[in-house]
Amino acid sequence: MVLKERITHKISSLPISEPFQVHKKIEDTDDIESVLFLSSLGREDPLIEFILIIIPGASVKILKNHIEAIDCLYNSPPDIFFIHPDGRAESSPEFHLCHTIRDADYGGVVILITDCVKDAGGFPNISSTGFDSYILTTDNKERVEDAILSAIIHRKRREKYIITIDGSLNAFYTIDGDGRVHEINKKGTEKSGYSPKEIVKEEMYIGDVGTLEAFDELIQPLITFENTGKSFTHTIEEGNRIYQVQTNIQNVPTIGLVAVLTKTDITKTIYSNTLDILVNSITLLSHRDHYTAGHSSRVLHYTMYFAQTFGYDKDSQFSKALYFAAFLHDIGKIGIRDHLLLKSGKLTPEEQLEFCSHAEKGYEMLYHYEFLRDSLDLILYHHERQDGKGYPRKLKGDKIPLGSSIIAIIDAFDAITTNRPYQKALPCEKAISEVKNNFGTQFNGEIGEKFLSIITPELIDNTQAMASKPISLIAHELVETILKE
Ligand SMILES: [Fe+2]
Ligand SMILES: [Fe+2]
Repeated sequence: MVLKERITHKISSLPISEPFQVHKKIEDTDDIESVLFLSSLGREDPLIEFILIIIPGASVKILKNHIEAIDCLYNSPPDIFFIHPDGRAESSPEFHLCHTIRDADYGGVVILITDCVKDAGGFPNISSTGFDSYILTTDNKERVEDAILSAIIHRKRREKYIITIDGSLNAFYTIDGDGRVHEINKKGTEKSGYSPKEIVKEEMYIGDVGTLEAFDELIQPLITFENTGKSFTHTIEEGNRIYQVQTNIQNVPTIGLVAVLTKTDITKTIYSNTLDILVNSITLLSHRDHYTAGHSSRVLHYTMYFAQTFGYDKDSQFSKALYFAAFLHDIGKIGIRDHLLLKSGKLTPEEQLEFCSHAEKGYEMLYHYEFLRDSLDLILYHHERQDGKGYPRKLKGDKIPLGSSIIAIIDAFDAITTNRPYQKALPCEKAISEVKNNFGTQFNGEIGEKFLSIITPELIDNTQAMASKPISLIAHELVETILKE
């Protein structure tokens, strides 16, 4: 169906979907080259005279009925369109015509001519129909000129606003107290399956759009007259992402009380800033115990390779928790005194007890970081053993989280394949048989078999070479990997 027919049908309230082309920019009356004037009085309409004076040199088409106007709009969309409906404006087909062409993205200036603003449903109704301004039939030339200029400014602002919010990487919403969406941009509709226009036109509720889960609980209670003009900021989590939501409560003439919202994805900022702080802790620890920084990077590298090989990375929530835990598993060692941390001989039972507390200390250090919540248990239990002789809780077999079992075997494998002041690295073959001897007692045999199946001397070499990179760079790459969906 061609656009003209679609518009004609819309007058009998059928939906249209084919939009107008982008209209040229109109900044001033000088930019107006074409005028369409729709009035049942035709040339006899007294306002024509003023318009010809105010907009000289433009081609002016004067039509008496809306069907002819549809033809003209379709063939050569005018820069400015005056609509003077017959009788009661609000219920007239001309009024519906304005609504319909705005729905189809007509970008020219549209001005209503009316005897009485009240007959047109009041100013809020005129504006929400899509008119940029209105002229009263009793207005003099100066008032008509003012109305045209303010209509041009209104259109310019409106276009600019739409371009800005639609092109933004942040989500924008205007939502009333009932949860109905009045404005939304493309980012705000993300993954909902709806377009911004559909959502606004169908008067959808934000709960049905499903892109602002915090509305009912956090935002709706703020929409009160006492809060008019106030701003609020919340940090919320949706799935694996962290957002900052800024809410401004406004009393909009056309709608009433609304929440005007901006939702910004701050996941990367939060992850990066937090890891920067934690990496500083690992760096400080490395000044005392040279082994730790490289060890954290190597355990992370083996863990990622293992997870990707066996498809554990398909569960993004699990792999995120696993990778952060692998990288940060020994961070609690910062709380262990040097004479234990650096001791090359066997630890006494008391020393052993203190050394073992690094798992719990790591848990405590990271406890307040919301996004590391799922990594906490994996870190706490990374020294548990299958036979229940590990620490800190002496968990047995299946009671040990899968992620902890993965980290436990990789942790031990890296320890025995790395040169340390008091211990020479075992060659690949020997390391494999050493780990295998402890299947079922220290390590989870099923995970162990999988891990050893990927081990080659090349993987060990690559991992060690990769770990010589600055740890801050590795942290940055980790954030990129986790956020890549
Ligand atoms: Fe450890
Ligand atoms: Fe470790």
